[in-house]
Amino acid sequence: MEIQFAPIQGYTDAAYRRIHNTIYPGSIACYYSPFIRIEKGDIRAKDVRDIALEQSNNIHLIPQIIANSPDEFNFLCDKIQAVGYNEIDVNVGCPFPLQTRKGRGAALLSNPEMFDNIMHCISQRKDIAFSIKMRLGLTHDDEWRLLIDSINNTPLRQVTIHPRIATQQYKGEINFPEFESFYSEISHPIVFNGDIKTLDDINNLAMKYPKLKGIMIGRGLLSRPCLAQEFQLNSTIDDNTLRQQVLTMHEALFAHYSAILQGQAQILTKIKTFWDYLEPIIGHKAAKAIHKSSTISKYQAAVALI
Ligand SMILES: Cc1cc2nc3c(=O)[nH]c(=O)nc-3n(C[C@H](O)[C@H](O)[C@H](O)COP(=O)(O)O)c2cc1C
Repeated sequence: MEIQFAPIQGYTDAAYRRIHNTIYPGSIACYYSPFIRIEKGDIRAKDVRDIALEQSNNIHLIPQIIANSPDEFNFLCDKIQAVGYNEIDVNVGCPFPLQTRKGRGAALLSNPEMFDNIMHCISQRKDIAFSIKMRLGLTHDDEWRLLIDSINNTPLRQVTIHPRIATQQYKGEINFPEFESFYSEISHPIVFNGDIKTLDDINNLAMKYPKLKGIMIGRGLLSRPCLAQEFQLNSTIDDNTLRQQVLTMHEALFAHYSAILQGQAQILTKIKTFWDYLEPIIGHKAAKAIHKSSTISKYQAAVALI
């Protein structure tokens, strides 16, 4: 059973992935890029740069796309293939209204005809190994039932399931009974995603669902970057060591963003997000001071509180 790093738009960019991989080498089977989309008729140069960097970083990165039609799908696949990738993950779970209103992400779960069209495109492109990342449905947790035959009949490397519906976003109960039905009906390698925060969570899930190929973790790794290494070692890392590791990650990220971004405001906006999920590790006082800091020197004084 392996641990995969979930894509988190705005957080898991190339710099974060590279630095995470430096501090916890070999603990993550693969990282996923945040979804790559078509905007103003084209792929964003920023997104291409983000995935292009990985090739020199020696990291197993799988670019993820979000598309609402065969045209968008093929356009994005061509562009990503041109960067040098032959693996792509297809987002069928994004709940952001900006995407679902355009028929992308989780909207495909309530549109079996378009979902089928995309699966058909996947079957056609034998030069790329595809996976999909999905939810149970857009508004109802049984929508996947209408799609399961189509999924099982499509060649897929894996199917990642986040057992919520899109209207829940990232909160509320995970629907385990419905997950178990999905688990028993899916014929592809299956990866569980959602609310995994501790080594016990990982071990319990692995024990209960032995067929799992892996667990994909997002926020749990942002708030505990050592989590996959803890699974590798089968032992927890103490708070002091973890705090030091987080500070080392921060130092590298701060140096990176200071070198590529212009001006205090841009650097602060970007680097502050690093701490968004880390309050349990650094404490409320430092987290609040970081959040409130308005200059680099105040920010550095806040980080020194850790
Ligand atoms: C701010 C934010 C951005 C996200 N961006 C993406 C994304 O680009 N692609 C994607 O498939 N999932 C995205 N997700 C969903 C996560 O990959 C993951 O499925 C979700 O957070 C549940 O897993 P977790 O509890 O381990 O975080 C995002 C989630 C959050 C909170």
